[in-house]
Formats: sequence, structure tokens, C-alpha cells
Amino acid sequence: KKYSVVASLLTNPNIGNVAEVKGWVKSLRVQKDLVFADVSDGSTANKLQVLIPKNLKTNDLTYGSAVHITGKLEKSPRGQLELRADYVKVYGTCVVLDGYPFNPRTAHPPEYIRNYLHLRCRTNYISAMLRIRHSVTKHIHDFFASRNYLNVNTPILTSNDCEGAGETFKVLPDSEETIKAMLQEGKTNDDVYFGRKSFLTVSAQLHLEAICRGMGNVYTLGPTFRAENSRSRLHLSEFYMLEAELAFCDDIEQLQSILEHLLKHIFSEIRNTNEADLYLIDKNNVAPTWLKDRFITLTYDEARNILNKKGLSTNEDGINKEQELALVEHCGGVPVFVVQWPKKLKSFYMKESDFDNSKVDALDLLGPITGEIAGGSLREVNYEKLQSKLPSEALNWYLELRKFGNIPTGGFGLGLERLLQVVCGIPNIKDTLPFPRWPHNCSM
Ligand code: 4AD
Ligand code: MG
Repeated sequence: KKYSVVASLLTNPNIGNVAEVKGWVKSLRVQKDLVFADVSDGSTANKLQVLIPKNLKTNDLTYGSAVHITGKLEKSPRGQLELRADYVKVYGTCVVLDGYPFNPRTAHPPEYIRNYLHLRCRTNYISAMLRIRHSVTKHIHDFFASRNYLNVNTPILTSNDCEGAGETFKVLPDSEETIKAMLQEGKTNDDVYFGRKSFLTVSAQLHLEAICRGMGNVYTLGPTFRAENSRSRLHLSEFYMLEAELAFCDDIEQLQSILEHLLKHIFSEIRNTNEADLYLIDKNNVAPTWLKDRFITLTYDEARNILNKKGLSTNEDGINKEQELALVEHCGGVPVFVVQWPKKLKSFYMKESDFDNSKVDALDLLGPITGEIAGGSLREVNYEKLQSKLPSEALNWYLELRKFGNIPTGGFGLGLERLLQVVCGIPNIKDTLPFPRWPHNCSM
């Protein structure tokens, strides 16, 4: 390696040593004999202050330019690490007047930054978010590794619509029309690419269940696609979902417990690893009070009663976003599990409650800012009951999992982007990943 990473320089400062850095100028203050530049290389929220003698300053050394600097590490009168430059090279110039959309004097709002998806990782807001996203992913993997869960990859191309909501992106060579036309032309199924309709996955759950029924606890963190026609601040067409499936699980409280521990692990670890990044996004971001409290559990009926008393009357369609947020507020901002859902509101694979066959053993986890952050359930374990609810023969393989060495399982899916909204305090989900896709927006 020919140069130092700013994060390492700042955590292990070797005063008096020579250092070489490569990065981007985040601010520039010109004084009588010296130019002060703050340089970032993406590795940390903190910038390295560089002192550049005026004779080394070129016209190209501007805000936003890419630089290569060598010099000696010193301690400023305030005890801060500084690099006193003896060599400055500008790799790439950056002229605001040429159309660079950011300048150091303006606090650009996220909506403005979002107009420049290709450049926006140069802002504090998005670069801090991306470092937090990286760390949250690591904390998730550490959490499951310490509990001996197997991390697996499940297919993106599938032939099932797990949630049955008809929100799949179709993969075109296999569209029904194409297949029909080809068959009419005298071709056989073997000539069609997959021989059946195929989609981009809406959930890894069914595949996870297959592995769980042979190997025990599993999880995956992967891309998920939903052609929802929703342009809200909470929906994306492409997002990442963490999905876990618990073997020998016959009590929904086991799912609640792991979700609660997982969230507390992530929220406390992120304060150790990314405090400065959290501050860059929201100066008022403090550790949530609920890290020490138990999450709250309400049955669906209890939740409806609370909402009705608040004048937010519910109908047969379930609980809407405004009502989800009202429930969390009612519980003092502590995450809320809503359990025991009416069967007709939930998917086919969910286990019928032993006590009330109009209900299923399902949960939604609601958090502040986003409302629903995770959804899960015990899975129907009984072959005949599952058979009677199976939406399509194409899922016979899923039914057959109940035939050989069957076990009770339960699992959940947690949206990584919604989680990041709550961790960082980001109102709009489009600012939780570098290149968001939502209806009519897939231009790069
Ligand atoms: O509640 P959902 O649809 O649950 C499932 O897909 C189950 N099969 C998961 C399982 O049990 N393995 O989705 C789970 C979570 C939601 O709670 C939400 O956080 C996120 O995925 N999510 C979305 N995030 C962003 N944009 C969208 N369009 C989302 N749809 C769901
Ligand atoms: Mg859901």
C-alpha cells in the first residue's frame, strides 16, 4: 500500500512520522501563509486537517478536488492531528462553476442531494449513511454467527410469489404470452427458457424453509424486489431483506426474542462503531431509551382497541401506516410487536392459531419513523392444512417439505433500509442505499 488510510491515521496518530494520503478536499480556508484543507478518503466521518504552505497551493486545489498529499504528522495547539504538507498533487479538479452541485457553504437538504445520485456519496449525509450501512451489515452477521446460524444465499430468479400479493417483477423471456406463442409455434416446453413463468424474488422465505428443514437455523441478507405501486417515503422497488428461519420453533415468543435481541445488538454496537457518522446525519441522534426496556407486545385486537379509543378507527384491511406510528407513539416510542393477526389479512403459509382458527401466529414489529420494520410468523406445519391453502401447484415442492422429516419452524423478514431509517433517523428510505429504485425511477 502506497498511502495511509485516514481512519487509521486518526486512531493511531504517530506524531513526527511522514504520511501520505489520497482523498477529496471537503473544505478549504486560505490564510496569510497557509491553506487549511480538510481531507476525507471515505474511511471515516472525521476529516484529516492538512496545512499547506501557500507556495504549494495551485489554482486546481479547490473544494471537491481529488488530491495526493505527503507531509509530516503534527499535533495542533489544540491537540488535534494535522498533516503539514510538503507535496501536493491534484488528481482531479473540481469546479463548482462547471456544474458541481455541492458547495461548502450550503447545507444541502436530502431532496436536493437526491437529484445527483451519481455524485451524492461525496456529501456528509450519504457517505455517513453508507458507512453505517456497512457496519449494520457486519453487526447482523456477527449476531447470527455468534448464535451458530448458517448464512445462505437464496435465488433472485424464482418461480414463486411467496407473499401472494402479485407484486412480482416478471422476468420477460418466460412471460405467459411468450410461452403460449412458442408452444403454438410447435415448440415444446424445453425450448422456453425456464419452461415456466419466472420472477425476481419477493422473499427468500420458502427457500430458507427448505434449508432450515434439513440443516437447522438459517438466515440470508439479500436483494428483494417488489413492483408495488407505492411512492411513499417507506417503499422501494428493490431493497435488502434480512430473513431468518428458526428450526424447531413452535412459539412466536422465540421469534420476538431474537428480533428484540438483534435490534438491541445493532443499536448499541453502532454507537461504538459509528458515533461520528450518526452525528453527521442527525446531531440530535441519541441512544434510544428502549435499549434497556422490553419491547411491547399487543394482540391485533388490543391494538385495534387502542386505535379506536384514539379516534383512529380501523376497518377490515388491517392497520395502516398512520395507525402503526400512532401505536408506537402510544407506547412511548418503544418498538411494538403486534401478534395474533386475522387469517384473512396474512399469507397462506402462516400457522393457524391453536386457540382461534380465524387467527394466525404472525407478528409485525413496529418502530418509530417507519412503522412496520419486520414481519414474521410460525409456519403451517400440518401437511393437510397447508395443502388446502396452497395457492398453486407450482408450490408442491414447498408442501413436500412437510412430508419428510418435518419440523415446526418460524421466521421473519426485516427490511434493511427501514432498519437504517430508524438507526440513523432518516425520514426517506431513498436515502438509505446508494442507488434507490422506485416507480418511474430507474434511470442509472
Ligand atoms: O412483511 P413482509 O412482506 O414479509 C415477508 O416477505 C416474509 N416472507 C418474511 C419472512 O417471514 N421471511 O416484508 C418484510 C419486511 C417488511 O417488514 C419491511 O421492513 C420490508 O420487508 N419491506 C420493504 N422495504 C422497503 N420497500 C418495500 N417495498 C418493502 N416491502 C417490505
Ligand atoms: Mg409485512
